[in-house]
Amino acid sequence: MPFPDSSFARSGRFSEIYPIGQGAVGRVYSAHDNLGRRVAVKEALPGAEGFAAFRAKFEQEARLQAALDHPNIVRVHHLEQDPHSGELFLICEYADAGSLADRIERDGPLPAAEAVAVAIDICAALEETAARRIVHRDVKPSNILLFRRAGGGLTAKLADFGIAQDARQRKTTMLSGASHPGTPLYMAPEQADVTAILDVRADIFALGLTLWEMLTGEDYKALAHGGAGPSLQAYRPDAGPALGHVIARAVRPNRDERYQTPQAFAADLRRLLAGQPIAPQAAGAAPPAPERRGCLGPVAVITMMLAIMFGGTIVVAAIAGVFGFLLPVRAETFPLETATPILSETSPPLPTPPPAELPPGLPAPTAPPFEPPTASPVPGVSVDGVYLNLSPTDAALLTGGSAELYSTPLPFEPTVTPPPELATATPPPAAP
Ligand SMILES: Nc1ncnc2c1ncn2[C@@H]1O[C@H](COP(=O)(O)OP(=O)(O)O)[C@@H](O)[C@H]1O
Ligand SMILES: [Mg+2]
Repeated sequence: MPFPDSSFARSGRFSEIYPIGQGAVGRVYSAHDNLGRRVAVKEALPGAEGFAAFRAKFEQEARLQAALDHPNIVRVHHLEQDPHSGELFLICEYADAGSLADRIERDGPLPAAEAVAVAIDICAALEETAARRIVHRDVKPSNILLFRRAGGGLTAKLADFGIAQDARQRKTTMLSGASHPGTPLYMAPEQADVTAILDVRADIFALGLTLWEMLTGEDYKALAHGGAGPSLQAYRPDAGPALGHVIARAVRPNRDERYQTPQAFAADLRRLLAGQPIAPQAAGAAPPAPERRGCLGPVAVITMMLAIMFGGTIVVAAIAGVFGFLLPVRAETFPLETATPILSETSPPLPTPPPAELPPGLPAPTAPPFEPPTASPVPGVSVDGVYLNLSPTDAALLTGGSAELYSTPLPFEPTVTPPPELATATPPPAAP
């Protein structure tokens, strides 16, 4: 019996019930519960095809989500079952801004800063799941729900832990089929092998694809055809190259080459939002460690020892210093990539952008050569720490040299953390 006609709904525990979505074995409703909360109620009706499988899914979803108490994970209030009919009702917090999938379908690609903010929210959720050794296995736009914040903007939360795998299940659950359950369009390569022990990097992969979809409205895998990943800038010319590099790193086929933690992924995304440079590792295959000068090499050490032993003069020591300066050693860390504007929020009426496809096998693009941050970008604006302009490199890449095309920044408003002074703008039309 549908939820509005169920004994639970009729008992007066729920009011103002109306349908908001369609699940696989029943509808999803919004309702007011008897504690004054607006909740979402997912029903699973025994007559529905696949009910048996969904029964387990519901119980799984309820058990795992109830144990997760995190601001970026949809809260489950309770799971109800009608003892007579066997109907199941999963009651959880209501997402008043709907799912991310609905949002993309309705409005098309998101403004870049908003897409990045959603991804940062979901990274926080994955940080929590990873800490509890849970792999979600089905991160995708329809499992990300959006909530309006009191002060404006949106919070994204991860939902639907129906096929998540926890540490206990890793050893005990018999999985049917040869692959992990999931949605093929978003599954990491290692998910195709049921014997692979998954970890959070599979979810990072799916989140990378989700971010790409938020920015382009397109399915990444459908465009990649198993080969080179599509170029973000070909579809989203207003996005700076660094954003494409970050996504490319998240979706590397080899999980050892991806971001290893949601924290690392989020850290680069935050740098993008702040208009800061990202580490070049994020821009592609790990580059050779750059040379750093200023440490003493063997010649310098010997020279200095001689100076000390033979009462050498300052001049000798100075020579040692010079040798030391000139002799390079490997640096421990990579210097930051130049401060290329990341979210170049101009939306130019582009001619056909160059098909800057990534190399086969989705290797990382090469880090751009170092340019001092003072390399003046095409005139634009910086709003709330976000660069809203294109660097000369970006502009040249996109225009084939006619950077003037991009010299006028267009209005843009990241709605997740909306700077009040910004005007609303829609993302540019996707490339073909
Ligand atoms: N908590 C919720 N708040 C608001 N809408 C929801 C909620 N849960 C689901 N929905 C809506 O119902 C639709 C179907 O629910 P979903 O959880 O995807 O079903 P299934 O588990 O069968 O995939 C979603 O796309 C979304 O629009
Ligand atoms: Mg779902």
